[in-house]
Amino acid sequence: MTDMVNLTIDGVALAVPKGMLVVDAAKKVDIDIPVFCYHPKLAPVGMCRMCLVEIGVPVIDRATGQPALNADGTPRLNFGKGLQTGCTVAVSEGMVVRTNTVPVTDAREDIIEFLLTSHPLDCPICDKGGECPLQDYTYKFGPGKSRFDFEKRHWEKPLQIGPNILLDRERCIMCFRCVRFCQEISGHEQLGVFERGNGQEIGVQPDQPFDSQFAGNTIELCPVGALTGAPTRFFGRTWEVAHSPGVCTGCAAGCNIRVDTRDGSEVVRYWSRENRHTDDGWLCDAGRFGFGFVNERRLLEPKLKSGEELTNATWQQALVRAAATLSEHSKAGTLGIMASPAMTNENLYAIAKLAREALGEKNLDHSARKRDAALADIARAGREAGFAAGTLVDIDAAARIITIGVDLSREQPVTELRVKKAVRQNGAALISVHGSDVELDGYAAAKVRYEPGKAAAAVEALAKQIAERDEPSPSVVVLGSRLAETEDASLIAALGALARSLGEQARLVAVLPSCNSRGALDLGILPAPDGGLSGAQMLQAARDGRIKALFLAGAEPLLDLDADLVKDALGRLEAIVYMGWAADSLPVSPDVALPCLTVLETGGTFSNTDGRIQRVFRAIRPRGRAKPVWQIAADLAQALGNPWLPASVEEIFEQVTREADGYAGVEWGRLGVNGIHPRALAEQRQG
Ligand code: SF4
Ligand code: FES
Repeated sequence: MTDMVNLTIDGVALAVPKGMLVVDAAKKVDIDIPVFCYHPKLAPVGMCRMCLVEIGVPVIDRATGQPALNADGTPRLNFGKGLQTGCTVAVSEGMVVRTNTVPVTDAREDIIEFLLTSHPLDCPICDKGGECPLQDYTYKFGPGKSRFDFEKRHWEKPLQIGPNILLDRERCIMCFRCVRFCQEISGHEQLGVFERGNGQEIGVQPDQPFDSQFAGNTIELCPVGALTGAPTRFFGRTWEVAHSPGVCTGCAAGCNIRVDTRDGSEVVRYWSRENRHTDDGWLCDAGRFGFGFVNERRLLEPKLKSGEELTNATWQQALVRAAATLSEHSKAGTLGIMASPAMTNENLYAIAKLAREALGEKNLDHSARKRDAALADIARAGREAGFAAGTLVDIDAAARIITIGVDLSREQPVTELRVKKAVRQNGAALISVHGSDVELDGYAAAKVRYEPGKAAAAVEALAKQIAERDEPSPSVVVLGSRLAETEDASLIAALGALARSLGEQARLVAVLPSCNSRGALDLGILPAPDGGLSGAQMLQAARDGRIKALFLAGAEPLLDLDADLVKDALGRLEAIVYMGWAADSLPVSPDVALPCLTVLETGGTFSNTDGRIQRVFRAIRPRGRAKPVWQIAADLAQALGNPWLPASVEEIFEQVTREADGYAGVEWGRLGVNGIHPRALAEQRQG
């Protein structure tokens, strides 16, 4: 194959794609070339010299134009005048790399010795201790004894350089990964390199804190403990911490995470866990540091309202009171049910079963935000308009990206990084259509602004322009769900025109508001079409007395609403049955509070914004007397005389795959740690 080159590393012959760097080629044959400044997602800079190796390239005989040979018939090689950095040199045909010769090991020893002259020995209290390449390489390649008798440099430490980031300058080895991340990936150029020589330091620009919503990624990129997370500093020693695969619940992107826990009882840190389908290896700070809901403010005991007080009760007492309230008001037509789109598919399925089968209730929804019923599922609306369903990965290969009514920076930050990368690396043309200025405008080839309520007209005008001027090209439209709250069905017609002008290769990715909005839509957490009230209508009905009781499974359906309106609506109810993990998330006390476990105590699945089904593994032991949502729903169904007796999350997932549209054929055992997209599965089967 012409795109492959043959080379030898430490005597091992291999063929790798042309252009690959020597450090990456070595990994293919399990040869570890130590690196500090190199990172596969950043441009090579050759800063630290840790990756020095011997590199020989064939000498070409000028007369014949063929490789020159030694007397023994082997190719004559030119190793140049010294060692070369494996992180900046690309492989070439016939190259010979040596990573374990005396000059190489001497150079590594020298580099380590040099770095340690200005690195403090605070490994025993450094967050990075136990997972620090400098520590590991010192043991593996270091001199074993220090010749440095002088006082090391000292700086004030740590410096809080941003809301989430602390800097220990004396630990910094000047690899510039952090600065390069800000320049090349996030585009938030808030970190810089100041001064020279022994006084050189990483720092923030004057009057500009490091408040990028992607700042936390630099904690992971920093190969030493120079950058640490303010909310997670001193989280524990790495060897005390267990890891479980999880999914961030911060937004609908479904970024994969590694959940770090201590003693099986406390979540101490989220770390990235690369999945190219969702996160491409990055996290936003809201997600990274957003695990407080597991550790803090937990509702741990069933409670009943007695007078103005909530008092602890037995599960039996709480279930009896809850079932009686739900039954009485459902029969009277005065009950509303809202279930959190931050719950797993299995829990949402259980709530839907309770609502529809045990109670026969039509008033069911997963959000109380105002929303046109025609556009409740904006992804389906896009398909109705003629778009093929797209995935986040489609953004990578798109020649044109059109964002409509979505501010990815706030709504799905890690997807914003994907769009920036497509523009920067692939030259994708971005058209930013929004009611106000958004961060991605800075990357856009064209901006379209519209007045509130006029998005459909703007999309229609854009479709006309594209149809008149441009050739169809692989395009991805990223559509915001918030748009659906203010637009009417004319948006579907405008999107239809846009789909036609973009041609057959156009795909649509909907940006849904919550981590499992997709699951809530797929599992029918929606008002019954024959007269069921939406969440917004339920709140209005609570205010005018038509709804007298609410069953709130999680408080998320009430997020982003006017606090006074919510308080007024809830305050007028005769009864509130609340099921949740937080003790104080409602503005008025419920009559019954049923404590439930978080996803990190039970496990389960989420469906991300484009429909990828991903598994979260149980990471910590259950807290207090809380129970899984599905189990509470099953207990209530039983108390209502309609028993449903699932034994496990896995069993419920199997029921979901039998009943929910688009989930057929997805097997629990094959979800693995990176999830499955049902469409990819179907394509695999057809192929
Ligand atoms: Fe490298 Fe960390 Fe220093 Fe930044 S702070 S230059 S990532 S060692
Ligand atoms: Fe190659 Fe730093 S890793 S110079």
